[in-house]
Amino acid sequence: MSPGRRRPEVIVALDYHDAAHAMQMVDCLRGACTFFKVGHELFTATGPRIVERILASGSDVFLDLKFHDIPNTVRGGVRSAASLGARLVTVHGVGGRRMVEAAVEGAAEGGGNCGVLAVTLLTSLAAGDIAQSWGRGSVDVETEVLRLAALAAGAGAHGVVCGGPEAPHVREQFGDRLAALIPGIRLAGAATHDQARVTTPEAAAAAGARYLVIGRTVTAAEDPARAMAAINASLA
Ligand code: C5P
Repeated sequence: MSPGRRRPEVIVALDYHDAAHAMQMVDCLRGACTFFKVGHELFTATGPRIVERILASGSDVFLDLKFHDIPNTVRGGVRSAASLGARLVTVHGVGGRRMVEAAVEGAAEGGGNCGVLAVTLLTSLAAGDIAQSWGRGSVDVETEVLRLAALAAGAGAHGVVCGGPEAPHVREQFGDRLAALIPGIRLAGAATHDQARVTTPEAAAAAGARYLVIGRTVTAAEDPARAMAAINASLA
């Protein structure tokens, strides 16, 4: 990592269907990880109680519910997430500037210290997938990510979610103005599963990521604590 650049915070994605498995992973990674992601599967199965339990264990929570609705509804959803104590929450940037602004307002209304991240383009999508869903002949991923990042910055978001390949460009254009959260993290040569735009922990850190979201690389490892320790060591 270049001098002066801060080490990214690693967030482990608890993509489980019940609280028992999620809390087991929190315990397993005690001392090695203090930031966990609660997403659709876990939150829908367990409700807000899981956020309280993770916070009570001494860790932070990234509530990745990727809100995308009319501004008033998103404001309320983000307000509720912030009042639960989430440190980060996601909304879809394509929901528009007014929606992202409403999310930022909702976060402030909910109290605490909740940062709004705007998802640019999901890391599961390749250029062809985006062109298909947007009804375009072709799409340049980097251009679209930077366009949505500008929208997020204008709306006052804390940061954006983008793929590793685009992260250096976001960093170059927005500097510290936007924190970059990068999912789709894989060790070199590992299976990519349903992700299309992947990167390694080291490359994401070098690209200036503030947060890395790591799921199966840790949670599906034979020894998750060891996998986590290896990632921490690679970022040290
Ligand atoms: O297992 P894996 O490392 O692929 O998990 C990535 C996690 O990051 C998942 O929980 C997924 O929901 C989340 N995520 C993502 N792409 C985004 C935003 C979040 O993969 N754009």
